[in-house]
Amino acid sequence: MKKHTSELGAQTPFPIVVLVSGSGSNLQTLIDAIAKGTLSARIAAVICNKADAYALQRAQEANIPTEIIAHADYETRDAFDAELTRRIEKYQPELIVLAGFMRILTADFVNHFYGKMINIHPSLLPKYRGLHTHKRALDAGDSEHGLSIHYVSAELDGGPIIFQQSVPVLADDTEKSLAQRVLVQEHLAYPQVIEWFAQGRLQLVDNQVILSE
Ligand code: GRF
Repeated sequence: MKKHTSELGAQTPFPIVVLVSGSGSNLQTLIDAIAKGTLSARIAAVICNKADAYALQRAQEANIPTEIIAHADYETRDAFDAELTRRIEKYQPELIVLAGFMRILTADFVNHFYGKMINIHPSLLPKYRGLHTHKRALDAGDSEHGLSIHYVSAELDGGPIIFQQSVPVLADDTEKSLAQRVLVQEHLAYPQVIEWFAQGRLQLVDNQVILSE
C-alpha cells in the first residue's frame, strides 16, 4: 500500500474525495471495500451538489465528512467550479472520484485536476457518451454493453480509458435489468481501479494510461 506522510509525520492511507449527486451505490462499495481492507484508501470527504441525495446519508453513516454545494446558489458554472475546487483542495486528495456526479464541469476545472480525477460511466466508451446509455444500447440492438472508468478530460466522457468491462445484452432485457447488470460490474470494478491508484500502479503519460505490474 502506498502510504502518505502528513505534516505530523504520521502515515495515512491514500486520501480520496468522492463527488456524488444521487443514490451513491458506488460510494457504498468504496466504503465497504475500505472496511473489508480490499481498498487501502481513505475517503477524506464526500461532496454533493444535491442536499437530498441518498449518498449523503451513506457517507454520514460511515462518519465521512460531507460537503454540499447547491449549484442553484451559484450564478455561473465558473463560480460553482471555483467553490468546488476550494472544497476539494481543503482535503488534499491524491485522487478525485466522480461516482454519479451529475454535473458538467468547466474546462478550467477539469484541466486543473487532469490526471487526478476519474469517472465511472455506464457504457463501453466511446459509445454512448452522456445520458440514457442503457436505453441507447437497447435501441441500437447491441449484443453487449458495459462500463468504462476513465480519466476526466474537458471532453464529456471522452478522457483516456483506464478500464472497461462488458456485459451481455439479453433478449428480454429492459432498461432497468440492463442497468442493474452493469451496476453489479461497476461495484466490482471501481474499488479495484482505485486500489491500483492507491498502490501507485496507474500513470498517465502523454495521455496514455499505463498500469504497471
Ligand atoms: C452509475 O451508473 C455510474 O456509472 C453513473 O451514475 C450512476 C451512479 O450510481 N456515472 P450510484 O449513485 O453510484 O448508485
